[in-house]
Amino acid sequence: MKAKIIGVGSELPPKVVTNDELSKTVETSDEWIKTRTGIEQRRISDEKTSTSDLAIAAAEKALKNSGLSAQDLDLIVVGTTTPDTLFPSVACLLQKKLGATKAAAFDVSAACAGFNYALTTAKQFIENETYKNVLVVGADTLTKHLDWQDRGTCVLFGDGAGAVVLTASDDGSGILASWLKAEGHLGENLIMPVNGFITMDGKEVFKFAVRVLEESIKKVLEKANLKAEDINLLIPHQANIRIINHVIKKMGLAKEKVFINLQKYGNTSAASIPIALDEAIQAGKLKKGDILVVSGFGAGLTCGANLIKW
Ligand code: UT7
Repeated sequence: MKAKIIGVGSELPPKVVTNDELSKTVETSDEWIKTRTGIEQRRISDEKTSTSDLAIAAAEKALKNSGLSAQDLDLIVVGTTTPDTLFPSVACLLQKKLGATKAAAFDVSAACAGFNYALTTAKQFIENETYKNVLVVGADTLTKHLDWQDRGTCVLFGDGAGAVVLTASDDGSGILASWLKAEGHLGENLIMPVNGFITMDGKEVFKFAVRVLEESIKKVLEKANLKAEDINLLIPHQANIRIINHVIKKMGLAKEKVFINLQKYGNTSAASIPIALDEAIQAGKLKKGDILVVSGFGAGLTCGANLIKW
């Protein structure tokens, strides 16, 4: 039995903040941000909008798209590091708001790798036949935890949520391989204290990202007995265009096989991959039988990838 994605949805807050707007409040420029990161603008949630508000909207779209109802869900797993409250979890808030009364619910904390950690966790319950239908969400509102005077971090992040519905399938498609990694000894390079702002050693995180993005793609290919040229679509975590370009060049991957939307949203943490997946589907980038690789990396430091036969 494999875990197959049968519905995808995403949600972004309406407020757009451009690089030029940021450069009015902190010493930066559109040129610096674009050249060093590829980011042109980001979406920022207002103070009334929490992570669960974005997550519920994404989850409702994914459920509608899947043809299942909330009552069909056996489990909800949310990748987030910006929960509305430390408890209840965002997953429990979703369970209530969706009316998914039969579903168990919990959050997974792996920062920007959160969606891959959540997806890999969820698929185990399907493969071992504990559950049939699982909602997996990646949602974060990191902009609420930024020091807006720190140009090294405040220009990078945005808010958003993305969701997928998984179901048990034996038709040969679904998640074929997963790989997770943590390097806790590097954790001090990217920290968000419980009541404080994000601090980051960008250079160290960059080095880690480039190394593990490549490693993770290779690991899932190896596990699935496939080669880099078998990938039809790669959706990497949308943190920095230079990280992505570095890796695809090194691996010899064709640019047109890599989905990128970070210019519009910045780094939306655990939400970046499911948001990009939703947009990639809408842009007609995936067809039945395609090999999709999703890979995320972030605080922890953590990394995770999944290889999916569409
Ligand atoms: O999801 C995982 C989360 N994090 C990441 O993936 C981040 C990984 N790291 C990065 O993406 C990059 O390291 C950054 C985009 C954060 C920084 O780029 P960089 O090329 O590593 O720049 P840098 O930190 O070495 O800074 C170069 C210069 C410095 O000035 P000096 O010391 O050369 O005079 C910085 O002070 O750029 C300066 N700088 C800025 N200038 C204008 C740093 N941030 C800014 C800014 N605007 N926003």
